[in-house]
Amino acid sequence: MNIERVDHILEKHEYKHSAIISIMQDAQGIENYLSEDTLRYISEKMELKLTRIFDIATFYKTFSLVPRGRHTIRVCCGTACHLGGAVKNLEQIQRKIHIQEGETTDDRMFSLETVNCLGACALAPVMVISEDYYDAVNPGNIEEILSPYRSGPEV
Ligand code: FES
Repeated sequence: MNIERVDHILEKHEYKHSAIISIMQDAQGIENYLSEDTLRYISEKMELKLTRIFDIATFYKTFSLVPRGRHTIRVCCGTACHLGGAVKNLEQIQRKIHIQEGETTDDRMFSLETVNCLGACALAPVMVISEDYYDAVNPGNIEEILSPYRSGPEV
């Protein structure tokens, strides 16, 4: 845990209980997950019950309590994307990065998740890598999409 950075986040949000989700999101941005130490530290500094913070961390899918990859791949498997071939895309991604849904690659470069809708149904099938949206995804262009993300330092 990077105490200095967590302190900075807490100060930025003025330790406001109403900002706890933003604080947790910012804290997660440090290592791309929320360690138990980080949650305990936030709990102590904000004088908020640890169980309350764990409840929030487990309720929202955006939070991860286990280390995640530098890039999270979210494959939409909602109705429009499913009809457009999302399952084949997911299988191709699994073949390319050698992990299953919910897993992280050994080099911590990628984590793989599925979601029910990314709000871009007209562009189906859709997937997101980190914050970047990709539409009209098909098994033939997945390597091209993944390629720029394969290099870079680990988290
Ligand atoms: S179903 Fe995939 S974006 Fe809506």
